[in-house]
Amino acid sequence: MSRPGLLSVADLGREGIVELLHLADSFAQVAARPIPKVPALRGRTVATVFYESSTRTRLSFETAAKRLSADTMTFTAQTSSVTKGESLRDTVETLDAMGVDAMVVRHASAGVPARVAGWVRAAVVNGGDGEHEHPTQALADCFTLREALARRGGGQPADDLKGLRVAIVGDVRHSRVARSDVLALGALGAEVVLVGPPTLLPPSTEGWGVAVAHDLDEVLGEVDVVYLLRIQAERLREAFVPSLEEYTERFGLTRARARRLPEELLVMHPGPMVRGVEIDAEVAGSARSLVTSQVRSGVAVRMAVLFRLLARAEERAGG
Ligand code: NCD
Repeated sequence: MSRPGLLSVADLGREGIVELLHLADSFAQVAARPIPKVPALRGRTVATVFYESSTRTRLSFETAAKRLSADTMTFTAQTSSVTKGESLRDTVETLDAMGVDAMVVRHASAGVPARVAGWVRAAVVNGGDGEHEHPTQALADCFTLREALARRGGGQPADDLKGLRVAIVGDVRHSRVARSDVLALGALGAEVVLVGPPTLLPPSTEGWGVAVAHDLDEVLGEVDVVYLLRIQAERLREAFVPSLEEYTERFGLTRARARRLPEELLVMHPGPMVRGVEIDAEVAGSARSLVTSQVRSGVAVRMAVLFRLLARAEERAGG
């Protein structure tokens, strides 16, 4: 890729991830100030270009851009000329011609952000593409985990997650979050086990560097973190589970299951949560849940990504 952008966690590698997490550390401090805003990207414009529904990712990118003093533009396919038949290419070229500096692209098809990056001058950030990747969610998750571990250990956040055992549970097959998290957690040294019925796991995990299991109760005693995924109903083309009740019974973090877990086991979910299916409402709000930290971290890591892509060299050097 010639122009800087962020399409995949794989493009970052361990060093790129650690660099962004360090930058995010300083932006998380900005968020704690009475006026949580810095002038770093004054005069730059960030457009969110979303062809698929979103609450947190779009608002998180827009919040991140605003805290860096960038201008923001919001494009949502449902209220645009896409409904009149305008093509993806014409749409993004139109936005590009308006002089936007970065486009955050979300689309139901894998590979769309990469295509867009080939058409526009703006830096392109993948805001979630089909079943492929969601790199900034994975960065938010790594940031959250390192913070949680530092809180527990009483020290500064470490650069790696070595020795941490994470179970990613549920609809891994259709989850871009899982794909990006496997790459990012793996790069930082965590051990990942994917848990779900065979129908909801990828047909092959060769080369993923993960373990696979089909019994949640067996795995729960062995891990430090349980990361629950939503069933991606909009991507299911056939019946992957006999019934949601049965799914919850076997793979949901129900109240009964949570009661049996050690107190220090952490619970994560990228949202949107379907309470009562993959996670019990009370468990989602309990002390072990990192769901709100994940959202908070999302803003800090997206500030880091936008800053790294859009700040001029002298600003990046602190000048
Ligand atoms: C996820 C997504 O859209 O990929 N949500 C998010 O961005 N935090 C996961 C999901 O939709 O289940």
